[in-house]
Amino acid sequence: MEFITLANGVKMPQLGLGVYKMTDPKQTLQAIDEALKDGYRAIDTASFYNNEQQVGEAVRASGIAREDLFITTKVWNDDQGYDSTLRAFEVSLKKLNMDYLDLYLTHWPIEDKFVDTYRAIERLYEQKLIRVPGVSNHHQKHLATLEREANVMPMVNQIEMHPYLQQNELRAYCAERNIAITAWSPLGRGVVLDDEVLAEIAKRYGKTPAQIILRWHVQQNVIVIPKSVTPSRIKSNITIFDFELCDEDMRLLSNLNQNKRFGVNPELPDFAKHFK
Ligand SMILES: NC(=O)c1ccc[n+]([C@@H]2O[C@H](COP(=O)([O-])OP(=O)(O)OC[C@H]3O[C@@H](n4cnc5c(N)ncnc54)[C@H](OP(=O)(O)O)[C@@H]3O)[C@@H](O)[C@H]2O)c1
Repeated sequence: MEFITLANGVKMPQLGLGVYKMTDPKQTLQAIDEALKDGYRAIDTASFYNNEQQVGEAVRASGIAREDLFITTKVWNDDQGYDSTLRAFEVSLKKLNMDYLDLYLTHWPIEDKFVDTYRAIERLYEQKLIRVPGVSNHHQKHLATLEREANVMPMVNQIEMHPYLQQNELRAYCAERNIAITAWSPLGRGVVLDDEVLAEIAKRYGKTPAQIILRWHVQQNVIVIPKSVTPSRIKSNITIFDFELCDEDMRLLSNLNQNKRFGVNPELPDFAKHFK
């Protein structure tokens, strides 16, 4: 496993298991159990995913020391604001049955609320209840606001990213501010896996299309959190640290950019309505 060193020196595993849409508790427990056996040490959940309890259970059942794991969760849109974020954090911590979290994120930048939400995250950081403060789906304009209002900048921004949506400007903006990028939907929700250019590259390396995409991410210092409930995929998704893509293949993959989103665009004024 490779690690990314964040702005405060904390080392975050460069690959973790995403657990969005794992709604069946038994299946969730099995997927996390498989992942931890395969060497995953990071889990990405959210209060919105309604599976924090299973994440906590699976982690404890594994017997792996808490300090060897990196657990992320997020405050949902309906809970944003200063006091309500602090309360939502308490609820998440209780469901996870943990004393602290490694990373806590504002899930989406809700207009008029994301600054107060982030202030609460800063407070949790000061209180050492989280090791790293972060955000998700924040674009340049949201980060510029935080730069004016916050004491400590977010150290991670979790954004939609895959070969069809490469977010080059936003990534450059974050790099200048030492904000690490985590790619959500790193496989483009599975859709990008059918790309012909990708298939041709995968064949040459004797790897799966998913492994090629994940390797492309990590070679750009991006953190990845692929989701799978399928044991063979969970195993193969982490087997990406034993080969390297050459510059030419990195370029071919970068040429696949279409600025195509599978999720909501946080630039849209009414984006939060999409979740109602
Ligand atoms: N911050 C945010 O707003 C936000 C939004 C969305 C997601 N996320 C996070 O990012 C994580 C990943 O994103 P995602 O779940 O949307 O998409 P993803 O990881 O890009 O794709 C998941 C899909 O790909 C399939 N898959 C996984 N590995 C595969 C492989 N090796 N070969 C073929 N298919 C494979 C999975 O199927 P099976 O499970 O059936 O194997 C699933 O259908 C989420 O779980 C969540 O933690 C965050």
